[in-house]
Amino acid sequence: MNTLPHAARIPPDMLSEIADRVGTPAYVYDARALEAGIGRWIGPVGDPARISFAAKANTNLAVLSVLERAGIGIEVATPGELGRARAAGFPADRIVFGGVPKSREAIREGIHGGVGLIVLQSGHEVAAAIEHACESPGGELAAGLRVRPGIRAGAHPSLETGRADAKFGLAPEEVPAVWRQLAAAECVVPRTLAFHLGSGLEQIDPYEQALDLMLSLVHSLSDADAPVLELDVGGGLGVDYASESDPDPAALVRLLESRITGIPVKLRFEPGRSVVARAGVLLTRVLYRRERNGSPALVCDAGYTDFARNALYGAEHAIVPVHGELSGDPNVEVLGPTCESGDRLGTGRRLHGVRPGDLLVLRDAGAYGFVMASNYNSRPRPPELLVRGDAWRVVRPRESLEDLWRGEVAS
Ligand SMILES: Cc1ncc(COP(=O)(O)O)c(C=O)c1O
Repeated sequence: MNTLPHAARIPPDMLSEIADRVGTPAYVYDARALEAGIGRWIGPVGDPARISFAAKANTNLAVLSVLERAGIGIEVATPGELGRARAAGFPADRIVFGGVPKSREAIREGIHGGVGLIVLQSGHEVAAAIEHACESPGGELAAGLRVRPGIRAGAHPSLETGRADAKFGLAPEEVPAVWRQLAAAECVVPRTLAFHLGSGLEQIDPYEQALDLMLSLVHSLSDADAPVLELDVGGGLGVDYASESDPDPAALVRLLESRITGIPVKLRFEPGRSVVARAGVLLTRVLYRRERNGSPALVCDAGYTDFARNALYGAEHAIVPVHGELSGDPNVEVLGPTCESGDRLGTGRRLHGVRPGDLLVLRDAGAYGFVMASNYNSRPRPPELLVRGDAWRVVRPRESLEDLWRGEVAS
């Protein structure tokens, strides 16, 4: 069992009971681990309002409301995430509409929803925000600009977002003119410069490099009508899925705070994965065993439609039997049931003692797990459950077959 305080600790007998009563596959989150996960950030940052949990990592309402009760804010990428944040109890002024590509309609919805900050990342977003700013409920729109710092941060190529060729944000040299344009616009108060380097980062030096670039922009805008008040350093701090030690948010916060000593800006953090990844597991049952290329493979009832990270990024999460031990050579593949050969949960595992019907738990599945599930092969998405101490409850039921074709019309 993982002993990190922010890792789910769900007793095997409870997992068996859940499998019997709710079925498999199922996502199970541990409320205390979620609290510990956000606590790792609140401790060093101090003011919880300067943390905006990146909703994209896990948008289950029960998970969000556990985090909301810690007093933090939330970063949303779409009107859908904005709606979920509100439904989970986040007040509008604690919501950051983040710097990912947004349609004109999405920007208007965010403004009408009264978000506390909107981060703009292209000329068309800036134009839309200026057009609608006076419609914001308070009559004033707090705005930020996402900068593309041009830094390689060492993440999986699909998860690196701060490179010079990334599709996100403005190049540093574009920023001063756009900032001044916002400062001159009616009802707009530019406040924040933001960056997000990528997801799953193991090193903290790239943040320091990016922050230094932001500080040079702060300096060049010191004579603007609106000074830069806040630097949003995005999310991205990784989880070491192969071990039980993670990069420490406190080290990152200390490093970045030390760089802004004496400069009148505040920092904002948007962690997602590092808060919730360890707090959830995916429970699955083995359907059958087969030999492939002389090695055993376990075909499970969960597949890449439920948990996409191995198929998408080659991510290898710990997979352990709920009852029983790891044994034998590390050569067992764990596969999903769908019609794709690439449908895998893990490779090279010591799962020789596992038999059809046994339960497996895929650990550290609380981030980018359920949120990336699909209905491919018309598979209903799994249920989500929340455990607190010795009690558990379903916080999103398994989809029914009728859910799959709701709203469709047979012609
Ligand atoms: C703008 C922004 N902020 C924060 C995050 C959260 O990143 P992570 O879950 O790696 O902390 C993301 C993830 O893609 C993002 O795009």
